[in-house]
Amino acid sequence: MTRLLVLGATGTIGRAVVDAALEAGHVVDCVLRPHHAQGGHGLPRGARLHFGTVAQALEAGGAEAVICCMASRTGAPADAWAVDHDATAAAVAAARAAGVSHFVLLSAICVQRPKLAFQRAKLAVEARLAQSGLRCSIVRPTAYFKSLSGQLERLRAGKPFLVFGDGRVTACKPVSDGDLARYMLGCLDTPARWNRVLPIGGPGPAITPLEQGAMLARALGVAPTFRHVPLRLMDGIVAGLSLAGRMSPRMAAKAELARIGRYYATESMLLLDPATGRYDAAATPETGTATLEDFYGRLARGEARVALGAHSVF
Ligand SMILES: NC(=O)c1ccc[n+]([C@@H]2O[C@H](COP(=O)([O-])OP(=O)(O)OC[C@H]3O[C@@H](n4cnc5c(N)ncnc54)[C@H](OP(=O)(O)O)[C@@H]3O)[C@@H](O)[C@H]2O)c1
Repeated sequence: MTRLLVLGATGTIGRAVVDAALEAGHVVDCVLRPHHAQGGHGLPRGARLHFGTVAQALEAGGAEAVICCMASRTGAPADAWAVDHDATAAAVAAARAAGVSHFVLLSAICVQRPKLAFQRAKLAVEARLAQSGLRCSIVRPTAYFKSLSGQLERLRAGKPFLVFGDGRVTACKPVSDGDLARYMLGCLDTPARWNRVLPIGGPGPAITPLEQGAMLARALGVAPTFRHVPLRLMDGIVAGLSLAGRMSPRMAAKAELARIGRYYATESMLLLDPATGRYDAAATPETGTATLEDFYGRLARGEARVALGAHSVF
């Protein structure tokens, strides 16, 4: 049994970490933002909630390890630097000062080829953690199930599944929230995952957007139909918004979101081979047993739900 502090516990992966940690018999503290103080956060009773600073929660709960799943909910540059970098770096410093023995950081596999503000913020905080002197595990997952489920209602409404280009431009190895949470927890007592950057995907072969569309259609019992969106269209939108963004901060934020969309339309969520500059599905490590196909089945039957929120572009 370990005393753990989970940051970002009200997010998708944070919740899964809290559930998996309680199930494994750990004592779980969480720091929540004040807007959760009135309840409605949905965390299990077993989790001990704190509403102050990370340092205060560490002192009160005596956590031996921190699992940080905090992330900007929008991915917009200022928010990403404030949360993914500044707040996370402050948590690393607080953990070090409190004598915590291990810090597990949720990062993202897309930082391998950084083109976006939030990726640079994450890379900078990864470096801060690696240099902190704390024992650490930097976990870089591939795509989450929720991020591959945004077209459920389109297909339910009889509309075609949207793919960029021929639908085979990218691929990923989707990982379930629970499998990722258990992998992150496993970092604590697996020396091979200490002081390492850990790219990680889910089980089975990598799948393309075309295969996702076919899978979702199968789960819903509808014929798969696709609309192919030219990448040039995306480029036009990015260019137009970037121009408008020079005059309006609101447009600049939209431009960054469009750049994020374009990034995921063209970059795979797989291990990047620096020698070839190509993504390598076979070399991408995997964990767990849950498959996207089963998840789509549960979504179709109403047994699972996805809350995309402001993060739906991820
Ligand atoms: N989606 C994907 O396919 C994918 C794949 C790989 C990696 N990732 C990475 O995974 C991360 C997202 O994980 P997720 O989907 O679990 O996140 P999420 O559901 O958006 O949750 C974000 C968490 O961070 C907290 N948070 C946000 N702003 C905060 C602030 N200013 N101070 C303190 N806490 C704050 C939120 O608390 P509140 O409830 O108070 O807002 C929430 O608990 C991102 O970094 C993304 O790059 C995503």
